[in-house]
Amino acid sequence: MERTFLMVKPDGVSRQLIGEIVSRFEKKGFRLAGAKLMQISDELAKKHYAEHKERPFFNDLVAFITSGPVFAMVWEGENIIATARQMMGKTNPAEAAPGTIRGDYGVIVSKNIIHGSDSPESAKREISLFFREDELISYSRPA
Ligand code: CMP
Repeated sequence: MERTFLMVKPDGVSRQLIGEIVSRFEKKGFRLAGAKLMQISDELAKKHYAEHKERPFFNDLVAFITSGPVFAMVWEGENIIATARQMMGKTNPAEAAPGTIRGDYGVIVSKNIIHGSDSPESAKREISLFFREDELISYSRPA
């Protein structure tokens, strides 16, 4: 079963969108395998966003993601990596379709509410950065 890493960013936490976001993935039929509210260290932020190291906005990205608590989650389900990205909408909320999380709640690209892994490789990497294996639980849903 496929797993992905999703994270409500500091703007989503401060706007009290955790429940709304969890609810969307639960109602879709995905299963929460692990979750925690946490304050990301500078070191973890730089590892998480390592692929953006050369971008002009890298320092702002790290500053923003460490500016307040985030809600880190692992979700499980059929084809969840691609489906979660559809549910999140385009990276830039101004271009994200209504009905998606960013389309419904976001306005600017640097404060786009939620992060989600973009491939099986990044899901594996990001899950292991934020969670130990014994913090994750797989279970089946009753019919
Ligand atoms: P995320 O999915 O967390 O991955 C990288 C993040 O970089 C992305 O969401 C955006 O929030 C952020 N980002 C992308 N482009 C820009 C930009 N031009 N300026 C600031 N932040 C950006």
